[in-house]
Amino acid sequence: MGRRTTITLIKCDVGSLPGHHVVPKILLDISRKRLNQAKKEGLINSYYVFHAGDDLELLMTHDKGENSPEIHSLAWDTFLEATEKAKKLKLYGAGQDMLKDAFSGNVRGLGPGVAEMEIEEREADPIVVLAADKTSQGAFNLPLFRIFADPFNTAGLVLEPTMMEGFKFEVLDQKERSRAVLKCPEEMYELIALIGSTERYVISHVWRAVDDLICVATSTTKLSMIAGRYVGKDDPVAIIRIQHGLPALGEVLAPFLHSYFVEGWMRGSHWAPIMPVSLKDSRCTLFDGPPRLLALGFQVTEGEIVSDEDGNPLIYDLFDDPAFDLARRECVEYASIIRRMGEFEPARLPESYMEYTALSKVLEKLKGRFHPV
Ligand code: F6R
Ligand code: MG
Ligand code: MG
Repeated sequence: MGRRTTITLIKCDVGSLPGHHVVPKILLDISRKRLNQAKKEGLINSYYVFHAGDDLELLMTHDKGENSPEIHSLAWDTFLEATEKAKKLKLYGAGQDMLKDAFSGNVRGLGPGVAEMEIEEREADPIVVLAADKTSQGAFNLPLFRIFADPFNTAGLVLEPTMMEGFKFEVLDQKERSRAVLKCPEEMYELIALIGSTERYVISHVWRAVDDLICVATSTTKLSMIAGRYVGKDDPVAIIRIQHGLPALGEVLAPFLHSYFVEGWMRGSHWAPIMPVSLKDSRCTLFDGPPRLLALGFQVTEGEIVSDEDGNPLIYDLFDDPAFDLARRECVEYASIIRRMGEFEPARLPESYMEYTALSKVLEKLKGRFHPV
């Protein structure tokens, strides 16, 4: 039996500048200080603080298991302290995702997004985390399908005996708040039928079929459902375990050879091409986008993110690579094409997907102006 370690990634938009652009260093430093203290006290084993555009991201490893009140309250208190500073500086959208006043033991349902995975450490345990800005959870459906079910993406599905048994996908129905587990390759068509509707069905977990080894956990917060109104897109994160009977690092990154369309972008109301970027370009600009995606790689050993001699976690910025230049260029080309459409569909999301309420206000204003035909 390997050591049990929990990897927790909790993120929140606590304020940014200018506008919904980036989390300034001062908020990252506040977070680092808190998590460093928590590490000294033995609550967490290691951490890495970063930002995906305007989202503050806390990556932690610890021994407390999933949904630990202590770990979630550490994240909540960190976001509260960062929010206080953001309010003082009148940063934009200060405390935007802190939707509830009181913490009740778990940040789920309060606004922050969480992806968590308790693993039994293998001989070596390499991990990739994905973090996106200006899009929603459904943005991960396509790449996760390709990584774990598409043999044209993942050679291991036809070359590695344990992977040939397939993978199980937990799909969350965000409308009904229910979940189902579908197994590939047997139920591949049914799976695509569901997760092709990215605004409703999202992949929340993936397990290796042969032994139920956990390999994916994603965040599934629907902010608009908590707040009852548009408060920004959910900007998802995912933890993906790789190698040794799981997709290789390169198979996890292969779907990002090309850009593809996701919901989000300006006012969370448009179809947008996604752009894989390095940490340096983790910031939305053009039409509040295009939505950006980070991929960070690391390994977990004896409960900790493997670090250098000085204790700095060894985190690899996987899209900081010319191999993804094509996707970035395609993304800008797709953006220039679809933006010519302005507010005409399919550039704008269909009304039912949109979280902005302006259209209902237009209808309200025009009430009485529509006559039967
Ligand atoms: C999308 C997003 C931005 C804002 C836009 C308007 O998730 O955060 O596109 O919707 O910048 O922001 P407000 O309404 O705050 O001026
Ligand atoms: Mg924001
Ligand atoms: Mg954001």
